[in-house]
Amino acid sequence: MTKRRPLMAANWKMHKTVSEMEDYLQRFLPLVSDVTDRDIVLAPSFVCLMKMAEILAGSNVDACAQNMFHEEQGAYTGEVSPLMLRDVGVKRVILGHSERRHIFQEDGQTINKKVLSAVRHGLSPIYCIGETLDERESGKTSEVLKSQVEEGLKGLSKDDFSMVAVAYEPVWAIGTGKTASTDQIQEAHALVRQEISQLAGEDIAQNLRILYGGSVKPDNVGQIMALDDVDGALVGGASLVPESFTKIVRFEID
Ligand code: 13P
Repeated sequence: MTKRRPLMAANWKMHKTVSEMEDYLQRFLPLVSDVTDRDIVLAPSFVCLMKMAEILAGSNVDACAQNMFHEEQGAYTGEVSPLMLRDVGVKRVILGHSERRHIFQEDGQTINKKVLSAVRHGLSPIYCIGETLDERESGKTSEVLKSQVEEGLKGLSKDDFSMVAVAYEPVWAIGTGKTASTDQIQEAHALVRQEISQLAGEDIAQNLRILYGGSVKPDNVGQIMALDDVDGALVGGASLVPESFTKIVRFEID
């Protein structure tokens, strides 16, 4: 069980219209209103963010973006900037999700610019990393995770690190119903913490939250959250139904 304050985050990906988001919040907020010992985060699409942040103001749930561009403004058709996110009351952003890396070809350098820009603008990044099935099967998991941590978090000051959470999401476990084993999860999380300790020092590494993502469900969250180096979850499919995400938020250690 983590010594850190758990962070339970929903990544809705490209799901839910504004009215569906409103219905969700109407059901979800009363179900979690008494939860005070963990952070609860919902990441809807950009078009939902402004309204969501308005509804969530003063609640125990935060709105989070799923992506952003690193520049403040300019000729970048289709992009959304950190200033725009801050302006509508958003305080967190998911960066480097494997779908951004693999479908939209975001590379480590691009993601690093986004991470640096997010913290400079007071947005807390949830920085995602994770190996593909090929990389795992060819014994490259540690190498990949280390280089993603190094590359993505390069240039952060020690103070900046306090704003960051890392999400370990093995690509082969995302949306597949295949969860990594508890041994695989603990091993990867310990390695990430070790790498952060080398980059930023042991104190910072001990305080930094590392979330697990990849087919987290109400019936496996307890055993995952029981692991020493797991400090939260980043949840796709099972976060789309308020009752199911509530069970995840309220995980009970098995
Ligand atoms: P699933 O929970 O649907 O596997 O998605 C995980 C994920 O990608 C969260 O960011």
